[in-house]
Amino acid sequence: MERTFVAIKPDAVQRGFIGQIIERFERKGFKIVGLKMLLPTRELAEKHYEEHIGREYFERLVAFIISGPLVAMVVEGNNAISVVRRMMGSTKPQEAEVGTIRFDFAQVKEMNIIHGSDSVNNAKREIDVFFKEDELIDWHHDVERWLYE
Ligand code: CDP
Ligand code: MG
Repeated sequence: MERTFVAIKPDAVQRGFIGQIIERFERKGFKIVGLKMLLPTRELAEKHYEEHIGREYFERLVAFIISGPLVAMVVEGNNAISVVRRMMGSTKPQEAEVGTIRFDFAQVKEMNIIHGSDSVNNAKREIDVFFKEDELIDWHHDVERWLYE
């Protein structure tokens, strides 16, 4: 079992897709162990995207991420990190596979609806950036016996 960090970005919140995005992870059988809406500070956004400091798009990216509330989630399940990335689709929505979240909901990379961690280290780091330990709920997901052998 793996945990990954997912953010439903401000464009998706504004466009009313919180429910449809969460629904995809529930439908897949993932367990949501952390969930909250927040208006990120610049400091939090810069910490989250610290790998991108110095890129030409960094300032625009941070301005976008702090432009409105986002929904932060921790999603748990089998290979959650890579499976969530596949469910999201590639960074540029026009190049994402049909049926992925980015293909289905977005047009441009600057407003691509969703973030998901890309590695075990980044998942740990990003979960720590957004959640305190007591905000993560270790609950028993009864349906797992119908999901995993
Ligand atoms: O989000 P993902 O991991 O797919 O892409 P990334 O390369 O880690 O970039 C992080 C985010 O920065 C992207 O999701 C885009 O929103 C934004 N970005 C951008 O606006 N312009 C670029 N040239 C590259 C990334
Ligand atoms: Mg990334």
